[in-house]
Amino acid sequence: MKEDTRIISVCSQKGGSGKSAITIWLANCLSRENKRVLVLDADGQRTIAKLRAREIERLGEPENACEVMATDDVASVLDERYEDYDIIFLDLPRMTGPDEAVMALTFCDSLLVPIRLGDSDVLSAFEFIKAAKKMGDIRMERGFDFNIYGVQNFRQHNLRENSDIDRYAEMLDITIFEHALPNRADFMRVGTTDCPLDYTSIAEPYGAFYQEFKQRYQIL
Ligand SMILES: Nc1ncnc2c1ncn2[C@@H]1O[C@H](COP(=O)(O)OP(=O)(O)O)[C@@H](O)[C@H]1O
Ligand SMILES: [Mg+2]
Repeated sequence: MKEDTRIISVCSQKGGSGKSAITIWLANCLSRENKRVLVLDADGQRTIAKLRAREIERLGEPENACEVMATDDVASVLDERYEDYDIIFLDLPRMTGPDEAVMALTFCDSLLVPIRLGDSDVLSAFEFIKAAKKMGDIRMERGFDFNIYGVQNFRQHNLRENSDIDRYAEMLDITIFEHALPNRADFMRVGTTDCPLDYTSIAEPYGAFYQEFKQRYQIL
């Protein structure tokens, strides 16, 4: 029998924290390991879906990359296609209020919150996590799974935020990935078929993060 499909959202309060990029990278790595992966682009800007459409125009349908679908009706797509995938990533717009967070959380069994270091944004990331956690508690009271993780993105040496992270994580009782994603130019190039493991300059830090992801999500 097929295992339950995982529904994961990489989400946060801030644009530019790496939500869409991290989504695509994880989705493509997993696709290469023969997982059936869907990226559901529910962000009104359709960043991922538009990019994929342009790539298809230029190069044809990709092989061995995640599937991408755009929708405003997440519930219906999940209803119809849930069984067809092992992992579904929801790419959501940045969420500014608890109402929007509720909408997303009703579908997800896990959130991965990128915490962008170096732009004094650590505190707002943790505000978001605090709100998300409350919604998660409601989900769990109803008997559903729910996990929330933080991942440090754009990490550089010698930033004050580096040391704040642990303090906040302990305060909120959430798990921050041990392996951070560093700030590197090669992470700036994102196509929807890209996989960071292909770039020697970033394969190592990315690989460590990816292995941790699989271990935490018990993806074999
Ligand atoms: N660790 C990183 N180092 C350098 N550039 C990054 C890193 N993570 C993401 N980026 C780049 O930052 C830009 C914004 O990321 P994106 O995923 O579009 O953010 P969001 O979806 O949160 O608005 C993209 O060009 C992406 O490639
Ligand atoms: Mg985005």
